[in-house]
Amino acid sequence: MKNWGTEFMNKDIAEVLITEEQIRQRVKELGEQISREYAGKEVVLLCHLKMDFMSISSYGDAQKTSGIVRINKDMDSSITGKHVIIAEDIMDSGLTLSYLTRLLSERQPASLRVCALLDKPERRECEITPDYCGFTIPNKFVVGYGLDYKGYYRNLPYVGVLDPKVYEQQ
Ligand code: IMP
Ligand code: MG
Repeated sequence: MKNWGTEFMNKDIAEVLITEEQIRQRVKELGEQISREYAGKEVVLLCHLKMDFMSISSYGDAQKTSGIVRINKDMDSSITGKHVIIAEDIMDSGLTLSYLTRLLSERQPASLRVCALLDKPERRECEITPDYCGFTIPNKFVVGYGLDYKGYYRNLPYVGVLDPKVYEQQ
């Protein structure tokens, strides 16, 4: 059986793109910026996954977007008249977020913004940019800090490029 411990997973990482320390620093900066800009306001933070969670996916297989977005679970609370920030891991083709922002706009929030830890602008297929972005990265498939490949590598504390041999072998 394959050993999925962190030590084993490190071997599948071609390059560490963003270190644990860089992520900690940037997340702190973004948190401070958002706290300043929303001072005195009540904010609904919507994660794709309470705070409140919504689960949506656009991936046909683990790597290539199918372009079809599916809502697995909708929010429990109303966002009408609320300030909403969607917290996203990574913006890639942008199809998921463009669909989600259109859907949520119809519910008439007071404001709606997107905060993405990572942005891969080279892959964009529609006109959307995150209002808050942690890091702009090149067009490479990355894992770690919550990002997965087939459910694995999420627990790596940094963001790294997955060695293509991992998905090419399959
Ligand atoms: P989009 O609709 O193409 O922007 O897809 C965004 C979603 O695809 C993200 O929320 C991730 O779940 C997934 N995704 C896109 N690029 C990567 C990557 O490099 N690593 C892991 N997941 C990714
Ligand atoms: Mg996501």
